[in-house]
Amino acid sequence: MSCYAGLMSGTSLDGIDAVLVDITTDRCQLLAATHDDYPQALLARLRQAIEAPTQVGLDELGELDTLVGEAFAAAALTLLRSSAVPAAQVRAIGSHGQTLRHQPRGAAPFSLQIGDANIIAERTGIDVVADFRRRDVAAGGEGAPLVPAFHAALFASPGQTRVVANIGGIANITLLQADGAVTGFDTGPGNCLMDGWTQRHCQLDFDRDGALAAAGQVYEPLLARLLTEPYLALPAPKSTGRELFNLPWLQERLGDVQLSPQDMLATLCQYTAETLAGAIAQAGAGTVAELLICGGGALNPQLLQRLSRLLPATPVCSTAQYGIAPLHVEAAAFAWMAHQHVQGLPANLPAVTGARGLRCLGALYPGAVTAT
Ligand SMILES: Nc1ncnc2c1ncn2[C@@H]1O[C@H](COP(=O)(O)OP(=O)(O)O)[C@@H](O)[C@H]1O
Ligand SMILES: [Mg+2]
Repeated sequence: MSCYAGLMSGTSLDGIDAVLVDITTDRCQLLAATHDDYPQALLARLRQAIEAPTQVGLDELGELDTLVGEAFAAAALTLLRSSAVPAAQVRAIGSHGQTLRHQPRGAAPFSLQIGDANIIAERTGIDVVADFRRRDVAAGGEGAPLVPAFHAALFASPGQTRVVANIGGIANITLLQADGAVTGFDTGPGNCLMDGWTQRHCQLDFDRDGALAAAGQVYEPLLARLLTEPYLALPAPKSTGRELFNLPWLQERLGDVQLSPQDMLATLCQYTAETLAGAIAQAGAGTVAELLICGGGALNPQLLQRLSRLLPATPVCSTAQYGIAPLHVEAAAFAWMAHQHVQGLPANLPAVTGARGLRCLGALYPGAVTAT
């Protein structure tokens, strides 16, 4: 058995997904999966830091790095307790950390993930691989999305064109072409605008099962305005985040118009669906044999319906059909990236991120306490 753990918290800030997988060259078998919410006080501080980045002082940044490290370590321990696999059999933990800011095209490009990996190594005694994005950024890449290489390893089907859509806070697609070529990019918002609006105006974490969206009507003038966002038409490689797609961005385009929560959710849900369908066309996918959905958006039937309506010729299914449930895919990707690091293998795809070449991603934090 070649056992790796993956820890992931995405832009949704909906908590830490942890998975334990058995990785062999052509297989990634799920052994255990758990989910830990962030403690409420930490969640509030993370939201504040992401929404008002210029107000974060160095002390706050340092403390958040430690607290997220502790939360990730606790999530790893929850995972280990839930499984029969002894810690000594886990070769390494791949930890994505929590993105606070992603600016890969600024004057001094960076992508900032926090969650001190030293703490995870110290609490678990297991080797930790972390800091996956910055080597790709150093090599001129976007540092994102990183999941396409894993999607290719797991879901490619020679002779068939498939698309994998990972609908987290931000959404990204991976185009797996029949000839083996792999491309992909961030398409724009996944759930982040829907979540943000629901949290602000409905005091709910998210629109569960798309219930609000199902009861509303798309407000076409707003949808049309949102679709003029220049990011959508940019050529790949490209990646984005909550730096762009956030509530102030939405409010600017909404102006003085008052919409019911239902109509707003219907409009935002349709927006996510249209940007995804548009991105699949932009990627030049041609005839797609199957569209595989993962990420939390896979659990929103309204979103899936709207996507299916826009892509009537494309069968849409969940990655669960191919052995890995939608909420486990991204955490499993970081377990796989830890495996790649340990084996000295690359984990980025230059065709996706724009990096100058393949790179072995991440840095190793040894779990063993060095004997004196
Ligand atoms: N039952 C559901 N109905 C609608 N949306 C859901 C459901 N379950 C999860 N989601 C959405 O999925 C999001 C979490 O998705 P996830 O893939 O974890 O995103 P991220 O990678 O950004 O953390 C939630 O914030 C929510 O918007
Ligand atoms: Mg999440």
